[in-house]
Amino acid sequence: MPQSNRQICLASHPVGVPSEENFQLVEREVPDPQEGELLIKSHYLSVDPYLRGVIGGRSAYLGSIAEGDVIPGGAVGTVVASRSPGFAPGDVVSGYWGWQEYALSDGQRLTPFDTSLAPMSTALGILGMPGLTAYFGFLEIGQPERGEQVFVSAAAGAVGSLVCQIGKIMGCRVAGSAGSEAKIAYLTEHLGIDAAFDYTDTDNYGDALHSVCPGGIDVYFDNVGGPLTDAVFPQLNDRARVVVCGQIDQYNDVERSRGPRLLWHLIVHQARAEGFLVQQFADRFAEGRDQLVHWLQDGKITYRESVAFGIENTPKAFIGLFSGENIGKQLVKVVE
Ligand SMILES: NC(=O)c1ccc[n+]([C@@H]2O[C@H](COP(=O)([O-])OP(=O)(O)OC[C@H]3O[C@@H](n4cnc5c(N)ncnc54)[C@H](OP(=O)(O)O)[C@@H]3O)[C@@H](O)[C@H]2O)c1
Repeated sequence: MPQSNRQICLASHPVGVPSEENFQLVEREVPDPQEGELLIKSHYLSVDPYLRGVIGGRSAYLGSIAEGDVIPGGAVGTVVASRSPGFAPGDVVSGYWGWQEYALSDGQRLTPFDTSLAPMSTALGILGMPGLTAYFGFLEIGQPERGEQVFVSAAAGAVGSLVCQIGKIMGCRVAGSAGSEAKIAYLTEHLGIDAAFDYTDTDNYGDALHSVCPGGIDVYFDNVGGPLTDAVFPQLNDRARVVVCGQIDQYNDVERSRGPRLLWHLIVHQARAEGFLVQQFADRFAEGRDQLVHWLQDGKITYRESVAFGIENTPKAFIGLFSGENIGKQLVKVVE
Protein backbone atom coordinates (compact mmCIF):
# COMPACT_ATOMS: atom_id res chain seq x y z
CA MET A 1 0.00 0.00 0.00
CA PRO A 2 1.40 3.46 -0.90
CA GLN A 3 2.39 5.73 1.98
CA SER A 4 1.32 9.15 0.86
CA ASN A 5 -1.74 10.67 -0.71
CA ARG A 6 -1.15 13.94 -2.53
CA GLN A 7 -4.12 16.27 -2.53
CA ILE A 8 -4.89 19.68 -4.03
CA CYS A 9 -6.52 21.84 -1.37
CA LEU A 10 -7.91 25.36 -1.34
CA ALA A 11 -5.30 27.79 0.00
CA SER A 12 -7.48 30.88 -0.39
CA HIS A 13 -10.76 31.84 -2.04
CA PRO A 14 -9.95 33.45 -5.40
CA VAL A 15 -11.09 36.95 -6.25
CA GLY A 16 -11.30 37.40 -10.02
CA VAL A 17 -9.43 34.93 -12.22
CA PRO A 18 -8.00 32.16 -9.98
CA SER A 19 -4.22 31.85 -9.69
CA GLU A 20 -2.01 28.95 -8.62
CA GLU A 21 -1.53 30.65 -5.22
CA ASN A 22 -5.17 29.87 -4.44
CA PHE A 23 -4.25 26.16 -4.32
CA GLN A 24 -1.92 24.10 -2.18
CA LEU A 25 -0.43 20.63 -2.67
CA VAL A 26 -0.71 18.68 0.59
CA GLU A 27 0.63 15.21 1.41
CA ARG A 28 -1.34 13.05 3.82
CA GLU A 29 -1.31 9.39 4.75
CA VAL A 30 -3.29 7.01 2.59
CA PRO A 31 -6.26 6.00 4.74
CA ASP A 32 -7.16 2.37 5.48
CA PRO A 33 -10.67 1.33 4.48
CA GLN A 34 -12.83 0.33 7.43
CA GLU A 35 -15.74 -2.13 7.30
CA GLY A 36 -18.12 -1.00 4.52
CA GLU A 37 -15.51 1.26 2.88
CA LEU A 38 -13.28 1.06 -0.17
CA LEU A 39 -10.10 2.79 -1.27
CA ILE A 40 -9.91 4.26 -4.78
CA LYS A 41 -6.81 5.25 -6.70
CA SER A 42 -7.44 8.18 -9.05
CA HIS A 43 -6.34 7.82 -12.66
CA TYR A 44 -7.82 11.02 -14.10
CA LEU A 45 -9.06 14.17 -12.40
CA SER A 46 -11.59 16.47 -13.98
CA VAL A 47 -11.29 20.24 -14.08
CA ASP A 48 -14.62 21.94 -14.79
CA PRO A 49 -15.82 25.55 -14.95
CA TYR A 50 -18.47 25.03 -12.22
CA LEU A 51 -15.66 24.56 -9.68
CA ARG A 52 -15.01 28.30 -9.95
CA GLY A 53 -18.27 28.87 -8.08
CA VAL A 54 -17.44 26.20 -5.50
CA ILE A 55 -13.99 27.58 -4.64
CA GLY A 56 -15.20 31.17 -4.76
CA GLY A 57 -17.80 30.59 -2.10
CA ARG A 58 -20.49 31.94 -4.43
CA SER A 59 -22.20 28.77 -5.57
CA ALA A 60 -25.63 28.58 -4.05
CA TYR A 61 -26.55 25.28 -5.67
CA LEU A 62 -23.25 23.36 -5.55
CA GLY A 63 -22.18 24.47 -2.11
CA SER A 64 -18.84 26.04 -1.32
CA ILE A 65 -15.71 24.89 0.47
CA ALA A 66 -13.45 26.26 3.19
CA GLU A 67 -9.72 26.95 3.01
CA GLY A 68 -7.83 23.70 3.56
CA ASP A 69 -10.54 21.53 1.98
CA VAL A 70 -9.71 19.18 -0.90
CA ILE A 71 -11.09 20.59 -4.18
CA PRO A 72 -14.18 18.42 -4.76
CA GLY A 73 -13.83 17.76 -8.51
CA GLY A 74 -14.86 14.73 -10.52
CA ALA A 75 -12.45 11.80 -10.87
CA VAL A 76 -12.21 8.30 -12.28
CA GLY A 77 -10.03 5.50 -11.00
CA THR A 78 -9.75 1.94 -9.79
CA VAL A 79 -10.69 0.31 -6.52
CA VAL A 80 -7.45 -0.81 -4.83
CA ALA A 81 -8.88 -2.21 -1.59
CA SER A 82 -12.43 -2.97 -0.60
CA ARG A 83 -14.29 -3.87 2.56
CA SER A 84 -17.54 -3.02 0.84
CA PRO A 85 -19.62 -5.91 -0.54
CA GLY A 86 -20.47 -4.11 -3.81
CA PHE A 87 -16.89 -3.42 -4.91
CA ALA A 88 -13.77 -5.45 -5.64
CA PRO A 89 -10.17 -4.42 -6.36
CA GLY A 90 -9.82 -3.58 -10.04
CA ASP A 91 -13.33 -2.13 -10.43
CA VAL A 92 -13.36 1.15 -12.33
CA VAL A 93 -15.55 3.87 -10.84
CA SER A 94 -16.11 7.59 -11.25
CA GLY A 95 -17.34 10.06 -8.66
CA TYR A 96 -16.67 13.36 -6.97
CA TRP A 97 -13.95 12.38 -4.49
CA GLY A 98 -11.89 15.41 -5.46
CA TRP A 99 -8.41 16.29 -6.59
CA GLN A 100 -6.43 13.65 -4.71
CA GLU A 101 -4.50 10.51 -5.58
CA TYR A 102 -6.42 8.22 -3.21
CA ALA A 103 -9.88 8.47 -1.72
CA LEU A 104 -11.92 6.56 0.80
CA SER A 105 -15.52 5.95 -0.12
CA ASP A 106 -18.54 4.39 1.50
CA GLY A 107 -19.62 3.25 -1.97
CA GLN A 108 -22.35 5.87 -2.27
CA ARG A 109 -22.42 8.29 -5.21
CA LEU A 110 -19.98 6.18 -7.27
CA THR A 111 -20.73 5.28 -10.89
CA PRO A 112 -19.24 2.00 -12.17
CA PHE A 113 -17.58 2.37 -15.56
CA ASP A 114 -17.21 -0.41 -18.15
CA THR A 115 -13.86 0.04 -19.89
CA SER A 116 -14.84 -2.40 -22.65
CA LEU A 117 -17.09 0.40 -23.96
CA ALA A 118 -14.55 3.21 -24.11
CA PRO A 119 -11.37 4.39 -22.37
CA MET A 120 -11.71 5.25 -18.69
CA SER A 121 -11.09 8.97 -19.28
CA THR A 122 -14.41 9.28 -21.16
CA ALA A 123 -16.21 8.75 -17.83
CA LEU A 124 -15.31 12.41 -17.14
CA GLY A 125 -16.02 13.70 -20.63
CA ILE A 126 -18.18 12.47 -23.46
CA LEU A 127 -19.73 9.63 -21.40
CA GLY A 128 -19.78 11.60 -18.16
CA MET A 129 -21.20 14.83 -16.82
CA PRO A 130 -20.25 17.06 -19.80
CA GLY A 131 -21.62 14.51 -22.28
CA LEU A 132 -24.91 14.25 -20.41
CA THR A 133 -25.09 18.04 -20.18
CA ALA A 134 -24.79 18.32 -23.96
CA TYR A 135 -27.24 15.48 -24.56
CA PHE A 136 -30.07 16.52 -22.25
CA GLY A 137 -29.53 20.27 -22.47
CA PHE A 138 -29.60 20.33 -26.23
CA LEU A 139 -32.28 17.72 -26.90
CA GLU A 140 -34.65 18.38 -23.99
CA ILE A 141 -34.30 22.14 -23.51
CA GLY A 142 -33.29 23.04 -27.07
CA GLN A 143 -35.86 20.80 -28.80
CA PRO A 144 -33.98 20.96 -32.14
CA GLU A 145 -35.79 20.10 -35.34
CA ARG A 146 -34.39 18.93 -38.66
CA GLY A 147 -33.28 21.83 -40.85
CA GLU A 148 -33.11 24.34 -38.00
CA GLN A 149 -30.14 26.65 -37.44
CA VAL A 150 -28.23 25.91 -34.24
CA PHE A 151 -25.56 28.21 -32.81
CA VAL A 152 -23.21 27.01 -30.04
CA SER A 153 -20.84 29.21 -28.01
CA ALA A 154 -17.60 27.73 -26.56
CA ALA A 155 -18.23 25.21 -29.33
CA ALA A 156 -14.82 23.50 -29.13
CA GLY A 157 -15.07 22.67 -25.42
CA ALA A 158 -16.25 19.47 -23.75
CA VAL A 159 -19.97 20.30 -23.80
CA GLY A 160 -19.99 22.48 -26.92
CA SER A 161 -18.17 20.03 -29.19
CA LEU A 162 -20.75 17.34 -28.41
CA VAL A 163 -23.72 19.69 -28.86
CA CYS A 164 -22.33 20.52 -32.32
CA GLN A 165 -22.18 16.84 -33.25
CA ILE A 166 -25.63 16.01 -31.89
CA GLY A 167 -26.92 18.98 -33.87
CA LYS A 168 -25.57 17.41 -37.06
CA ILE A 169 -27.07 14.01 -36.12
CA MET A 170 -30.44 15.76 -35.70
CA GLY A 171 -30.17 17.17 -39.23
CA CYS A 172 -29.63 20.78 -38.16
CA ARG A 173 -27.37 23.37 -39.69
CA VAL A 174 -24.76 23.99 -36.98
CA ALA A 175 -22.51 26.99 -36.42
CA GLY A 176 -20.34 27.88 -33.46
CA SER A 177 -17.82 30.24 -31.95
CA ALA A 178 -14.53 29.51 -30.22
CA GLY A 179 -11.37 31.32 -29.24
CA SER A 180 -8.63 30.33 -31.69
CA GLU A 181 -7.92 29.44 -35.30
CA ALA A 182 -7.01 25.88 -34.26
CA LYS A 183 -10.43 25.50 -32.61
CA ILE A 184 -12.23 26.81 -35.70
CA ALA A 185 -10.34 24.28 -37.84
CA TYR A 186 -11.27 21.51 -35.37
CA LEU A 187 -14.95 22.46 -35.58
CA THR A 188 -15.25 22.89 -39.34
CA GLU A 189 -12.74 20.33 -40.62
CA HIS A 190 -12.79 17.62 -37.97
CA LEU A 191 -16.30 17.80 -36.53
CA GLY A 192 -17.78 18.93 -39.84
CA ILE A 193 -20.00 21.74 -38.58
CA ASP A 194 -21.25 24.18 -41.19
CA ALA A 195 -19.57 27.40 -40.09
CA ALA A 196 -17.65 28.88 -37.17
CA PHE A 197 -15.89 32.10 -36.17
CA ASP A 198 -13.11 33.03 -33.80
CA TYR A 199 -14.68 35.50 -31.37
CA THR A 200 -11.24 36.79 -30.34
CA ASP A 201 -10.62 37.88 -33.90
CA THR A 202 -13.56 40.25 -34.39
CA ASP A 203 -14.80 43.40 -32.74
CA ASN A 204 -18.29 42.99 -34.16
CA TYR A 205 -20.00 39.84 -32.87
CA GLY A 206 -23.25 40.79 -34.65
CA ASP A 207 -21.64 40.79 -38.10
CA ALA A 208 -19.67 37.62 -37.31
CA LEU A 209 -22.86 35.86 -36.19
CA HIS A 210 -24.75 36.98 -39.27
CA SER A 211 -21.98 35.63 -41.49
CA VAL A 212 -22.15 32.15 -39.91
CA CYS A 213 -25.95 32.11 -39.43
CA PRO A 214 -27.33 34.19 -42.31
CA GLY A 215 -30.82 32.77 -41.81
CA GLY A 216 -30.99 33.66 -38.11
CA ILE A 217 -30.81 31.31 -35.11
CA ASP A 218 -33.44 28.77 -34.02
CA VAL A 219 -31.56 27.13 -31.14
CA TYR A 220 -28.80 28.93 -29.25
CA PHE A 221 -26.81 26.67 -26.90
CA ASP A 222 -25.17 29.21 -24.59
CA ASN A 223 -22.03 28.19 -22.71
CA VAL A 224 -20.63 31.67 -22.40
CA GLY A 225 -23.07 34.56 -21.77
CA GLY A 226 -21.81 38.16 -21.78
CA PRO A 227 -21.39 40.27 -24.92
CA LEU A 228 -21.51 37.26 -27.27
CA THR A 229 -24.93 36.26 -26.00
CA ASP A 230 -26.05 39.89 -26.17
CA ALA A 231 -25.22 39.76 -29.87
CA VAL A 232 -27.20 36.53 -30.39
CA PHE A 233 -30.56 37.80 -29.10
CA PRO A 234 -31.28 40.20 -31.97
CA GLN A 235 -30.63 37.31 -34.40
CA LEU A 236 -33.13 34.86 -32.94
CA ASN A 237 -35.81 33.54 -35.25
CA ASP A 238 -39.48 33.19 -34.37
CA ARG A 239 -40.02 30.46 -31.74
CA ALA A 240 -36.28 30.25 -31.05
CA ARG A 241 -35.01 28.42 -27.96
CA VAL A 242 -32.07 29.73 -25.91
CA VAL A 243 -30.52 26.93 -23.85
CA VAL A 244 -28.77 28.62 -20.94
CA CYS A 245 -26.10 26.07 -20.05
CA GLY A 246 -23.21 28.18 -18.75
CA GLN A 247 -22.07 31.79 -18.40
CA ILE A 248 -18.30 31.34 -18.19
CA ASP A 249 -17.72 34.91 -19.32
CA GLN A 250 -18.97 36.01 -15.90
CA TYR A 251 -17.56 33.37 -13.53
CA ASN A 252 -14.55 35.51 -12.58
CA ASP A 253 -16.42 38.82 -12.38
CA VAL A 254 -15.74 40.64 -9.14
CA GLU A 255 -18.79 42.85 -9.65
CA ARG A 256 -22.01 41.81 -11.34
CA SER A 257 -22.05 43.21 -14.84
CA ARG A 258 -25.16 44.74 -16.36
CA GLY A 259 -25.66 43.98 -20.03
CA PRO A 260 -28.04 45.30 -22.63
CA ARG A 261 -31.69 44.57 -21.85
CA LEU A 262 -32.68 42.18 -24.59
CA LEU A 263 -35.75 40.33 -23.39
CA TRP A 264 -37.74 42.35 -25.89
CA HIS A 265 -36.39 40.00 -28.56
CA LEU A 266 -38.02 37.07 -26.77
CA ILE A 267 -41.39 38.81 -26.97
CA VAL A 268 -41.09 39.82 -30.61
CA HIS A 269 -39.99 36.35 -31.69
CA GLN A 270 -42.15 34.42 -29.19
CA ALA A 271 -38.83 32.84 -28.17
CA ARG A 272 -37.96 30.96 -24.99
CA ALA A 273 -34.81 31.11 -22.83
CA GLU A 274 -34.44 28.33 -20.27
CA GLY A 275 -31.66 27.48 -17.87
CA PHE A 276 -31.01 23.94 -16.72
CA LEU A 277 -28.77 21.84 -14.48
CA VAL A 278 -27.65 18.48 -15.80
CA GLN A 279 -28.56 16.99 -12.43
CA GLN A 280 -32.26 17.58 -13.12
CA PHE A 281 -32.01 14.70 -15.61
CA ALA A 282 -30.31 12.32 -13.13
CA ASP A 283 -33.04 9.70 -13.37
CA ARG A 284 -32.39 9.49 -17.13
CA PHE A 285 -28.57 9.39 -17.07
CA ALA A 286 -28.46 5.67 -17.98
CA GLU A 287 -30.57 6.34 -21.07
CA GLY A 288 -28.33 9.27 -22.09
CA ARG A 289 -25.13 7.27 -21.56
CA ASP A 290 -26.51 4.34 -23.61
CA GLN A 291 -27.29 6.61 -26.54
CA LEU A 292 -23.88 8.30 -26.35
CA VAL A 293 -22.13 4.90 -26.24
CA HIS A 294 -24.08 3.80 -29.33
CA TRP A 295 -23.22 6.95 -31.24
CA LEU A 296 -19.57 6.60 -30.19
CA GLN A 297 -19.37 2.97 -31.26
CA ASP A 298 -21.14 3.73 -34.56
CA GLY A 299 -18.63 6.50 -35.27
CA LYS A 300 -21.38 9.14 -35.24
CA ILE A 301 -19.69 11.17 -32.51
CA THR A 302 -16.07 11.65 -31.61
CA TYR A 303 -14.24 13.46 -28.82
CA ARG A 304 -10.99 15.18 -28.06
CA GLU A 305 -9.20 15.47 -24.73
CA SER A 306 -6.57 17.92 -23.53
CA VAL A 307 -4.55 16.06 -20.92
CA ALA A 308 -2.21 17.60 -18.35
CA PHE A 309 0.10 15.25 -16.46
CA GLY A 310 0.68 15.10 -12.71
CA ILE A 311 -1.62 16.07 -9.87
CA GLU A 312 0.54 19.13 -9.19
CA ASN A 313 -0.57 20.55 -12.55
CA THR A 314 -4.30 20.34 -11.78
CA PRO A 315 -4.70 24.00 -10.69
CA LYS A 316 -2.93 25.18 -13.86
CA ALA A 317 -5.19 23.01 -16.02
CA PHE A 318 -8.25 24.39 -14.23
CA ILE A 319 -7.15 28.02 -14.62
CA GLY A 320 -6.50 27.35 -18.32
CA LEU A 321 -10.23 26.80 -18.87
CA PHE A 322 -10.75 30.54 -18.47
CA SER A 323 -8.25 31.40 -21.18
CA GLY A 324 -9.37 28.62 -23.48
CA GLU A 325 -6.23 26.45 -23.30
CA ASN A 326 -8.27 23.27 -23.85
CA ILE A 327 -9.78 21.73 -26.95
CA GLY A 328 -12.46 19.25 -25.92
CA LYS A 329 -12.43 17.92 -22.37
CA GLN A 330 -9.64 19.09 -20.07
CA LEU A 331 -8.33 16.29 -17.86
CA VAL A 332 -5.40 15.66 -15.57
CA LYS A 333 -3.75 12.24 -15.66
CA VAL A 334 -2.39 11.30 -12.27
CA VAL A 335 -0.96 7.83 -12.86
CA GLU A 336 1.76 6.90 -15.31
N1 LIG B 1 -25.90 23.65 -16.71
C1 LIG B 1 -25.16 22.59 -16.39
O1 LIG B 1 -25.62 21.63 -15.76
C2 LIG B 1 -23.73 22.55 -16.84
C3 LIG B 1 -22.99 21.36 -16.76
C4 LIG B 1 -21.68 21.35 -17.25
C5 LIG B 1 -21.13 22.53 -17.78
N2 LIG B 1 -21.88 23.66 -17.80
C6 LIG B 1 -21.33 24.90 -18.38
O2 LIG B 1 -21.09 24.64 -19.75
C7 LIG B 1 -20.01 25.48 -20.19
C8 LIG B 1 -18.97 24.60 -20.88
O3 LIG B 1 -18.41 23.71 -19.90
P1 LIG B 1 -17.28 22.68 -20.33
O4 LIG B 1 -17.03 21.81 -19.17
O5 LIG B 1 -17.61 22.11 -21.65
O6 LIG B 1 -16.02 23.65 -20.50
P2 LIG B 1 -15.16 23.82 -21.81
O7 LIG B 1 -16.03 24.46 -22.85
O8 LIG B 1 -14.47 22.56 -22.15
O9 LIG B 1 -14.06 24.87 -21.32
C9 LIG B 1 -14.39 26.19 -21.12
C10 LIG B 1 -14.22 26.99 -22.44
O10 LIG B 1 -14.89 28.22 -22.31
C11 LIG B 1 -14.30 29.17 -23.17
N3 LIG B 1 -14.23 30.45 -22.46
C12 LIG B 1 -13.59 30.71 -21.30
N4 LIG B 1 -13.78 32.01 -20.96
C13 LIG B 1 -14.54 32.56 -21.93
C14 LIG B 1 -15.09 33.86 -22.15
N5 LIG B 1 -14.88 34.86 -21.28
N6 LIG B 1 -15.82 34.08 -23.26
C15 LIG B 1 -16.05 33.07 -24.14
N7 LIG B 1 -15.56 31.82 -23.99
C16 LIG B 1 -14.83 31.57 -22.88
C17 LIG B 1 -12.90 28.66 -23.52
O11 LIG B 1 -12.87 28.35 -24.92
P3 LIG B 1 -12.58 29.48 -26.02
O12 LIG B 1 -11.17 29.29 -26.48
O13 LIG B 1 -13.57 29.17 -27.07
O14 LIG B 1 -12.77 30.80 -25.36
C18 LIG B 1 -12.77 27.35 -22.74
O15 LIG B 1 -12.11 26.34 -23.45
C19 LIG B 1 -19.50 26.20 -18.96
O16 LIG B 1 -20.08 27.49 -18.93
C20 LIG B 1 -20.01 25.37 -17.81
O17 LIG B 1 -20.15 26.09 -16.63
C21 LIG B 1 -23.17 23.70 -17.35
